[in-house]
Amino acid sequence: MDHEPTRNLALDLARVTEAAALAAGRFMGRGDKEAADKAAVDAMRLVLNSMEIRGVVVIGEGEKDEAPMLYNGEHVGSEHAGPEMDIAVDPIDGTRPLAFGRTNSIATVAIAPRGTMFDPGPFVYMNKIAVGPEAKGKIDIELPVLDNLKAIAKAKGKLLEDLTCIILDRPRHDQLVAEMRHAGVRIRLIPDGDVAAALMTADPDSGVDALFGIGGTPEGVLSACALRAMGGEIQGKLYARNDDELRRGHEAGYNFDKILTMSDLVSSEDVFFAATGITDGELLHGVRYLSDGAKTQTLVVRGLTGTVRQITATHRWDKLKRLSAIDY
Ligand code: FBP
Repeated sequence: MDHEPTRNLALDLARVTEAAALAAGRFMGRGDKEAADKAAVDAMRLVLNSMEIRGVVVIGEGEKDEAPMLYNGEHVGSEHAGPEMDIAVDPIDGTRPLAFGRTNSIATVAIAPRGTMFDPGPFVYMNKIAVGPEAKGKIDIELPVLDNLKAIAKAKGKLLEDLTCIILDRPRHDQLVAEMRHAGVRIRLIPDGDVAAALMTADPDSGVDALFGIGGTPEGVLSACALRAMGGEIQGKLYARNDDELRRGHEAGYNFDKILTMSDLVSSEDVFFAATGITDGELLHGVRYLSDGAKTQTLVVRGLTGTVRQITATHRWDKLKRLSAIDY
C-alpha cells in the first residue's frame, strides 16, 4: 500500500483542547465549577467551529435544554465542507479537582466518522475495565475480578502483588476494593478523572496496569477512542443506578447486560483524540501561566496510524489576545 498521507485531524483537535485548558485553567482553585465549565465549553466550541469537518456532538454537555452549547445533537465545524464526524467532548474531565486546585484535570475531545460512536443517551454510568497493549484481549468484564487480575498479571509477566489498579474512590466500589485487597494487588484510589486514569494504563511510565470500576459513560467512550489508537483495550457495561433507570433504559432499547467492547464504543479505527492538561497530573502537565503567555501540554492520538504525540506549546498573549475571541 502506498497511500498519500492524509490529514491528521487530531492535530486540529490539539488546538481545541488547548483553548479549553487555557480558558478553564484560570479558574483553578476558585471553587466555581460552573464558571470553569462555561469557559472551557465556550473556548472549545469556538475552535471546533473553525475545523473543516461536518460534526455532530454525540457526547456533549447534555440535552439542548440543559446545555446551551456543545449539547448532544449540536452541529459544529463547517456546514458544507469536510468529512462527516461524530464528536465526543469533555471540556473538563475533573471539574471538582480544577475548582479545588487538585491534580489530574484535563480537557478532552475525540472525533470519529459519523455513526461510529456509541450514543449512551441519558445513561450516565458504565462499569469499566481498561488495560494497556500488553493485556489487550485478555480481559473479560463478565468474569470475576480475580480472574481478570490473574489474566492481566500473566499477560504482563507480573505477580498479582506487582499489579497497580486504579479505581474511582466511591462507596459503590467498596466490594471491588475488598476483592482487590484480598487478591493482594496494589490499589490507587482516585477522587476523579477516569479518562486520564484509563489512558495511564497504556503509558508504561505511569506505573498503572488497569482501571476498574464504575465511572461516566461519556468518559468510557472518550477513553475507548484513545485506547483504540494507543493499542489498549476498554470493556464496559452500562450501569443502572436504580430500577427506574433500568426500566427507562430497556424502554429506550438499551441492554444493561451487554458487554460493550471497544468496537461497540467506537466502531471505526479512523478515530482522533486529544487531551490537554488543565491542572498538573501524572499523564499531562497543567497549564503554566507566564507573564507574557502560557504553556500547555497535549496528548494527540490518531487511530489509523497509532501515532501518539505529546505537544508542548507556548502561547503568546500579545499575539493571541489580539486575534482571538476567547478571553484568556
Ligand atoms: P466531570 O469532571 O466531567 O464531572 O467528571 C469527573 C469524573 O470523575 C469522571 O472522570 C468520572 O467518569 C465521573 O466523574 C464519575 O462520576 P461520579 O463523580 O458521579 O462518581
